[in-house]
Amino acid sequence: MGASLCNKTMALLCLVFMTTLNLCLVSIVAELPKFHQTTNGDGSLSFLVIGDWGRRGAYNQSQVALQMGRIGEKLDVNFVVSTGDNFYDNGLTGVDDVAFEESFTKIYTAKSLQRPWYSVLGNHDYRGNVEAQLSHVFRKIDSRWICLKSFLVNTEVAELFFVDTNPFVDMYFNDPKDHKYDWRGVLPKREKYIANVLKDLDLALSESSAKWKIVVGHHAIRSVGHHGDTEELVKQLLPILKANNVDLYINGHDHCLEHISDNDSPIQFLTSGAGSKAWRGDVKGLNREGVKFFYDGQGFMSVKLTQTEANFAFYDVSGKVLHRFDLSKPLYADM
Ligand SMILES: *[C@@H]1O[C@H](CO)[C@@H](O)[C@H](O)[C@H]1NC(C)=O
Repeated sequence: MGASLCNKTMALLCLVFMTTLNLCLVSIVAELPKFHQTTNGDGSLSFLVIGDWGRRGAYNQSQVALQMGRIGEKLDVNFVVSTGDNFYDNGLTGVDDVAFEESFTKIYTAKSLQRPWYSVLGNHDYRGNVEAQLSHVFRKIDSRWICLKSFLVNTEVAELFFVDTNPFVDMYFNDPKDHKYDWRGVLPKREKYIANVLKDLDLALSESSAKWKIVVGHHAIRSVGHHGDTEELVKQLLPILKANNVDLYINGHDHCLEHISDNDSPIQFLTSGAGSKAWRGDVKGLNREGVKFFYDGQGFMSVKLTQTEANFAFYDVSGKVLHRFDLSKPLYADM
């Protein structure tokens, strides 16, 4: 499948190492799990991005899945990225929850989509049994399923940094009227959890020599949709992305498709959260600086990368291209 977990080997090596030298633990423990993903024969990398989807096929989820299969075949995609809110309304109840198969395995059936699905959790996933959704039991049922809190996917052309953004959002902790969340592993030391996520990300980004650096989270940094900007991420995450020359920040959460450019950095903010229920109709500040594209209906996004070129496209429920844009880089960057 082209995906392998390197961290386990690292941990094992470390263990062996540690017995002779008592130094290794500090750096290895903080390290994020890392998968290696092969590129295509021509050295290019393609993937689809979908978010906010698991509704047992309803709200056009199945139609979007069909078009993903078609575009996935055309682009010969290496994997799929899920930006979270994988299972509505309240995540998965346990390792025996049939919603996993009904909303995932039996929906994304196209041959081109039988690739790794690198997935983060959304706030709706946190309303269920998080440990279950992350569990290897589901990977046994459907080997495509690769869902972790924060992790890395390394390829020859790009590195993807998946970040668990849920613990950043104050509202989920402070509003007594809000839903119940499965904060095992986050509470009682939320500040420490967040600090570790940021430290691990910063370290991984600064050590990365990848041509394209792509950060993926559930919540938007910039959005003109229903939820808008996530202020906690603007304050805490964005400075790290800017300092490390990140090219793209990709998210879901708002049930729409968006492309927004930053006004003082090269970062492109891309929302792909239109995997099922959409058409919310509330848009704030469409004329805001940097907004290149906004679509309120269902759809998904594709990315194709080479060492020098990046091509992006957003599609609607019928597979029609709604918006395209390209980025390019010199082959040899002057550092
Ligand atoms: C499904 O997609 C069509 C075409 O975009 C749209 O008219 C319709 O409202 C969508 N259905 C739902 C339930 O969102």
